[in-house]
Amino acid sequence: MSDTKTVKLVDESNNRSSELPLLSGTLGPACVDIGNLYKDTGHFTYDPGYGSTASTKSAITYIDGDQGVLLYRGYPIEQLAEKSSFLETAYLLLNGELPSKGEFAKFEDDITHHTMMHESLKDFFKGFHHDAHPMAMLAASVASLSAFYHDDIDVDNADDRKLAAIRLIAKMPTIAAACFRYSIGWPFRYPRNNLEYVDRFLHMMFEVPSEPLTLSPVAAKALDLLFILHADHEQNASTSTVRLVGSTGANPYASIAAGITALWGPAHGGANEAVLKMLEEIGTADKVESAVKRAKDKNDNFRLMGFGHRVYKNFDPRAKIIREMTHKVLGELGVNDPLLEVALKLEEAALKDDYFVERKLYPNVDFYSGIIYKALNIPTEMFTVMFAIARTAGWIAHWIEQHETPGARIGRPRQIYTGADVRNYVAADKR
Ligand code: ACO
Repeated sequence: MSDTKTVKLVDESNNRSSELPLLSGTLGPACVDIGNLYKDTGHFTYDPGYGSTASTKSAITYIDGDQGVLLYRGYPIEQLAEKSSFLETAYLLLNGELPSKGEFAKFEDDITHHTMMHESLKDFFKGFHHDAHPMAMLAASVASLSAFYHDDIDVDNADDRKLAAIRLIAKMPTIAAACFRYSIGWPFRYPRNNLEYVDRFLHMMFEVPSEPLTLSPVAAKALDLLFILHADHEQNASTSTVRLVGSTGANPYASIAAGITALWGPAHGGANEAVLKMLEEIGTADKVESAVKRAKDKNDNFRLMGFGHRVYKNFDPRAKIIREMTHKVLGELGVNDPLLEVALKLEEAALKDDYFVERKLYPNVDFYSGIIYKALNIPTEMFTVMFAIARTAGWIAHWIEQHETPGARIGRPRQIYTGADVRNYVAADKR
């Protein structure tokens, strides 16, 4: 007899049953393995929005939504935010361990020497109208990398997968900066190898040919921290999209491009852009009360953007870190943004409002990130692009893990069909 714990599901209507094994991970709730349910009982499960469904096993990131815990490869986000850098965190997500000095130097060197875009990609940009949304340009440009590197990639080859990861993490800031510069009509800047990852990106964004750029070290430090906080988040909508596309055997660039488009939605990564637009719309602290009232009105589609999270029902640990940093960054950069006052007032009003308390709606990672991006002179339309640069590390780590997992199958959910019953075709003159 096996000592595996099981859950028995009995369908009395047809006298069929299934012994469903309970699977446990290192941390977190056990999961009922329903793999044999259809065979045993003839039923599917129904879980729209996947509120009770684990889609995969993964060793990359752990979230405890009730306790507000986020771990990358076991390391608490608070420790990584304080002590690590984005590039080191990316290495950790990809490889499972923090790098030695030598390993990190090699990784950084690899990234630094894959930052250039193919020159033909520049021409690709010319096809866009100047006011195209940068997320549209980013998704299309990343998908187009498949055209430049497709022949090099065997998704079953570990070295090829690693090279794709390096290329993506390295080129994403170059492409992102190009999206920005194209939209304002500035010439593209080549990446400078003497700079570190985030500094290099800021130079590609803001340096003009006519004069050198002087950047506050606070800017690079703040952006690096935001990148760490956004680097991975378990099986969120965009990561699940990357895995679903990846499960078909699609190449990594196509898989990550799909993740970018999933991230764009305002319910997900697009929230940072939506938060800033909302704060600007509210305008002044005295209008906060009416905004909260609207957010509670079920006849009004307005939601408090940057509030609520599918998993965090206590607080979002990333929001706590960003909240603290916002004050520091604005102070050090000497920025006095009235939107911060609106944000603080909104947070205060929502946190003591029964509607938000009962539904456990707390500020999420994107409630404050927009205010920092704004202080760094990053335009609102670029906010979700910033998120995508950071999340590329997580997406590609999941794509690699998926390909390293034996027995992986194509993702193929089922449905409850609610359409017409079988019927006969009616000739056009009889309809
Ligand atoms: N403002 C007002 N009410 C809200 C909000 C909000 N921001 N979020 C949830 N609610 C309410 C819902 O209306 C619902 O109320 P009901 O029970 O009376 O019907 C209840 O809270 C539960 O909300 P759901 O939509 O069922 O929660 P779900 O887990 O599906 O959605 C989500 C989570 C998408 C994040 C949601 O809270 C939301 O839309 N927030 C605003 C957008 C946002 O900030 N997204 C970024 C998330 S973080 C990230 O992806 C990086």
